[in-house]
Amino acid sequence: MLLQAATAVRERAYAPYSRFKVGAALRSPSGAVHVGCNVENVAYPEGTCAEAGAIAAMIAAGDTAIAEILVIADSPEPVPPCGGCRQKIAEFAAQDVRVTLCTTDGKSKVMSVADLLPGVFTAAHMDRT
Ligand code: THU
Repeated sequence: MLLQAATAVRERAYAPYSRFKVGAALRSPSGAVHVGCNVENVAYPEGTCAEAGAIAAMIAAGDTAIAEILVIADSPEPVPPCGGCRQKIAEFAAQDVRVTLCTTDGKSKVMSVADLLPGVFTAAHMDRT
C-alpha cells in the first residue's frame, strides 16, 4: 500500500542539509506504485522534493497518470506538498484525485488535488481560439 511504500522510501531520502526526510508514493491507473524521496544538494535550490522524485519514477516506468498519492514526513502536522509540487501533481492528476498527507507518528489528512491548488494553471489558459 502507499503508506508502506512511502514510509520505506523516506528512509532513503538524502537530506543532510534540512535533516527533513520526505517520502512519496503514488499509484497509477495501471496499479503500479511509484516512489520518490527528497534529494538535496549543497547548492540548495538544486534539491528535489519527494513528490517530484515519485513523478519522475512514474514517467520513467511508462505510466502517465496519478490515481492516488501519499506523502509522509516526520512533521508535527501532516506534511503539505510545496507549491511547485502541487503544480507538478496537477500535471498528472485529475482534480478529484486523493492526496494523503501523513506524519511518521500516525497523523493524516486527506485532501484532493483541487483542494491543494485552487485556480490551477492549465493548458486551457494558453488557448486563444
Ligand atoms: N520537501 C519534500 O520533499 N516534499 C514536501 O512536500 C515538502 C518539502 C523537502 C524539500 C527539502 O529537501 C526538505 O523537504 C525541506 O524543505
